Amino acid sequence: MSEKQARSLPKIPRHVAIIMDGNGRWARERGLPRLAGHRAGTENLRRIIEACVEFGIQYLTIYAFSTENWARPRDEVEGLMDIMEEVIDREVPKLHEQGVQIRHLGKMEGIRPELQKKLREAVELTRNNSRLILNVALNYGGRDEIVQAIRKMIRDGLSPEEVTEERVAQYLYTAGIPDPDLIIRTSGEYRMSNFLLWQGAYAEWYFTPVYWPDFDKEELRKALEEYARRQRRFGRVEPVEEPVR
Ligand code: FPP
Repeated sequence: MSEKQARSLPKIPRHVAIIMDGNGRWARERGLPRLAGHRAGTENLRRIIEACVEFGIQYLTIYAFSTENWARPRDEVEGLMDIMEEVIDREVPKLHEQGVQIRHLGKMEGIRPELQKKLREAVELTRNNSRLILNVALNYGGRDEIVQAIRKMIRDGLSPEEVTEERVAQYLYTAGIPDPDLIIRTSGEYRMSNFLLWQGAYAEWYFTPVYWPDFDKEELRKALEEYARRQRRFGRVEPVEEPVR
């Protein structure tokens, strides 16, 4: 895909979020262990990050591991954590070179110390990059995020009147990040699964039956084309103009 082709879409979402679902089924259909599906999913992530840069998307948020995923079999959880550590070691230097900024959304508490360290280092290393902001939702849950925000507001002694929508947004993991315009869920599931509950209030959703490891640039382009055809009204009657490239 050339830069020109990538830019040919009339309207590009500023912030895309993805529920990368279907790794397990992708592996099962091939007679492979589930972790092979997660590895294939991780490979795909690299390609999609590159495609997002080409399309001129500014923010990409990925659901890597939810607060509920701890309930999976121990081997799978440990395997996923191993994969994430390997991926950070292998990919972060390249991402840094490409100008990608990495941010973590979620609770550090509960993540194994080695991975916490790698995550913190990746965030620190890339903090001044701005070509693409990559938010990694890891040990993330939308309800938990809101609970944490409420606790912090109470600790900070906010009065009831000070609790506004803007103020709540500042207490979320996504403080300073615009709300997602488009949320993609792969693998034919139609659920929010506790993802960006607050931030996704006016997001456009795109569902595809394609499993995450097969969700390539072309599939992303289809999602972006569909998004470009949608009229966003944010609760009003008339469509609301969005930034057009
Ligand atoms: C959902 O598929 C996928 C996950 C729970 C894990 C996604 C994580 C990655 C692709 C690794 C990301 C790596 C980094 C460093 C951010 P599933 O297992 O629920 O699939 P199934 O529904 O078919 O079983």
